[in-house]
Amino acid sequence: MEYFKALWTEENEDGSFTTSLQVLSTEILASQEVLVQVLYSSLNYKDALSANGHRGITQHFPHIPGIDAAGIVLHDATGQFQSGDQVIITGFDLGMNTHGGLAELISVPASWMVKLPMQVSLKKSMQIGTAGLTAGMAVRALQQNQIFPSSGEILVTGASGGVGMCAIKLLNHLGYQVVALTGKPEMADALLKIGASRVIDRLEFMSEKPRTLYPMTFAGGIDTVGGEVLVKLIKSLQFAGSVAVCGMAGGVDLPLQVYPFILRGARVLGIYSADSPLEKKQEIWNLYADEWNFELDSITEVISLIEAPDKLKLMLEGLSHGRYLVQILD
Ligand SMILES: NC(=O)c1ccc[n+]([C@@H]2O[C@H](COP(=O)([O-])OP(=O)(O)OC[C@H]3O[C@@H](n4cnc5c(N)ncnc54)[C@H](OP(=O)(O)O)[C@@H]3O)[C@@H](O)[C@H]2O)c1
Repeated sequence: MEYFKALWTEENEDGSFTTSLQVLSTEILASQEVLVQVLYSSLNYKDALSANGHRGITQHFPHIPGIDAAGIVLHDATGQFQSGDQVIITGFDLGMNTHGGLAELISVPASWMVKLPMQVSLKKSMQIGTAGLTAGMAVRALQQNQIFPSSGEILVTGASGGVGMCAIKLLNHLGYQVVALTGKPEMADALLKIGASRVIDRLEFMSEKPRTLYPMTFAGGIDTVGGEVLVKLIKSLQFAGSVAVCGMAGGVDLPLQVYPFILRGARVLGIYSADSPLEKKQEIWNLYADEWNFELDSITEVISLIEAPDKLKLMLEGLSHGRYLVQILD
């Protein structure tokens, strides 16, 4: 293969960025250990940032975004993988400063790859993708901090997003009572349908007068929003409650006094899936192949590469919802 199709993010003369479908020479791929033919990818918030020229994610342009990829090994110089092996690559540097998975081909180190578990299809692996992996790590962190279905309600923020919807589905599957916090009241019915027991409007949640502590409402939380929303969630935890913190779609600051920690034993559990050791990722993939095997079609829109740039724009504006599975071949 001399040429391959990929999304290509380029910087324009005025400093803006354009992402479009292009046919590229394979020479632009760095020759890493393994060449993979990508069959499916997915869209994550980080891709929206990269495709919009965010230097904190991608320093050099032009660039192929895409932090997720699933496909078939074409060649592995290390001999760890056979040609034809089905593999998943999520995170590490893929789609950041290494050309990413929104393409027919990627070239990556063998140490970034997980063999596809038997009971998971390539398609399902990308419905899960980084969003599902992150939601899974957040749920594991809550379990490890003794937050169980009997503990009480779990608040999921950014509920209509990729991580949010995966978290709701997973928590519901495990028997937790899930409360969805969303900035999109029009998504309330959809959130109830996928397993939320009640839905809170983000504007309403944030309209209350700021207080040092709020009533102890939630046993735990999974936060994808950050900022003031996270502050209010921490102040609303029950005694010894935990919140798994994964995102910053709404802000990066955490203006907070120590009271929730020293008066209520609140715990904040940081989640970072991208650079997690491969064994940790493998543990989550194995769970999705077994105990966590539930459908994700209800939260997935299947799109083609050419449709991805518009969806990435929506994501950046906070207007997208659920998971976008990118089918690479026409
Ligand atoms: N730590 C990790 O390892 C890890 C891994 C994956 C993702 N993340 C982070 O998690 C976050 C969500 O990722 P994603 O892929 O699920 O993105 P996404 O699909 O775009 O979802 C983000 C959701 O956040 C809410 N939101 C968006 N803009 C907001 C704003 N200005 N203020 C408050 N809420 C806002 C929206 O949900 P509602 O309208 O329903 O509120 C939106 O759907 C991102 O910050 C991403 O970088 C972290």
